[in-house]
Amino acid sequence: MIRIEHLKKQYASVTPLNDVSVEINDGDVISVIGPSGTGKSTLLRCINLLEKPTSGKIWVDDVEVTAPDCDMNEVRKRVGMVFQNFNLFGHKTVIENITLAPMDLLGISKQEAYDEGMRLLRMVGLGEKALSYPDELSGGQKQRIAIARTLAMDPEVILLDEPTSALDPTMVGEVQAVIRELAKTGKTMMIVTHEMNLARAISNRVFYMDEGGIYEEGTPEEIFDHPKREKTRRFVHKLKVLELNIDSHDYDFLGMARLIEVWCGKNQITPKLTNRIRLVFEEATQLLIPYSRTPLVKSVCEYSEESGVAKWTFEYSGERTDLTKSDDNLSVSVLKGLAENLTYECVEDENLPNRINIEIR
Ligand SMILES: Nc1ncnc2c1ncn2[C@@H]1O[C@H](COP(=O)(O)OP(=O)(O)OP(=O)(O)O)[C@@H](O)[C@H]1O
Ligand SMILES: [Mg+2]
Repeated sequence: MIRIEHLKKQYASVTPLNDVSVEINDGDVISVIGPSGTGKSTLLRCINLLEKPTSGKIWVDDVEVTAPDCDMNEVRKRVGMVFQNFNLFGHKTVIENITLAPMDLLGISKQEAYDEGMRLLRMVGLGEKALSYPDELSGGQKQRIAIARTLAMDPEVILLDEPTSALDPTMVGEVQAVIRELAKTGKTMMIVTHEMNLARAISNRVFYMDEGGIYEEGTPEEIFDHPKREKTRRFVHKLKVLELNIDSHDYDFLGMARLIEVWCGKNQITPKLTNRIRLVFEEATQLLIPYSRTPLVKSVCEYSEESGVAKWTFEYSGERTDLTKSDDNLSVSVLKGLAENLTYECVEDENLPNRINIEIR
């Protein structure tokens, strides 16, 4: 239905999409998730040609929409888009907003467009608002109208870019209800959303975007419950992450302690846990640095607000050796005292084959 091959979109200072290739099948409902700035909107906007791709090809059915001679209007008929900010015409009534494009672009009669428009308005629960103006409606109502307007063109695919994120929380539910119903109809949909419950409920596929493309894709269960890759896992578990790399024996010890304090402050970590996070770093580096060869030690602290647990991992160079076994070492006993859980593992990494995990709370 939609085929994307080596799509690249480059702006002057960033390249949100580096090399995206994917196929979207008829009836797929795809949720697109990922941190801000990872190209989620850009991907949708490239599919319906609101943005011109830098390179790569996109087909909608058998029409290559990236071909130079492609008729933009033809594409827009097939691919409908719902925006965060509704984009309704303020000087037109609700029913006019809905019937305009079908009459202009599909050439259907006024009566027919009206009948269909009213059917769609009733479907989104707003039959009685046909003659109102957008300004007279709440945000949730406006977005439901915007969805009805998109459906009026009977597109083959509907792209929704954060359709509920501009709404007052009390209105999210009514718009989500419409989206849930829509997803059940078998319409092909792609929705950028931060609402994980919605994504889980409606989609058969989830794209997690990062590092210039679709970093991981899977079913909602795979992505939300068993993510395979590091960044996906951090995102779906809403982990706060601090990375500190030590590249030299003369690293800035005080500067790093300060970075830890600032990071903990920013994430509202309790003073008690902050203290432990810093202590673990200090003791672990004291244990590992003398042993390691360059590139020495890579450390990451992940904090979960949900569970209140912070997890340090330290990867270090040198021979495969479990340094936490050195029981006569003072740092090891301090670390054991602080940790809820302390484990060592060997990893498949030539430079940093050793890894220690330390959980604290
Ligand atoms: N017209 C533009 N000109 C220059 N840079 C742009 C333009 N549009 C987007 N970008 C940049 O491209 C990157 C990706 O933007 P995009 O809007 O696709 O991200 P997103 O994943 O939708 O983020 P968010 O979750 O915040 O909506 C960002 O760094 C953004 O600043
Ligand atoms: Mg966006």
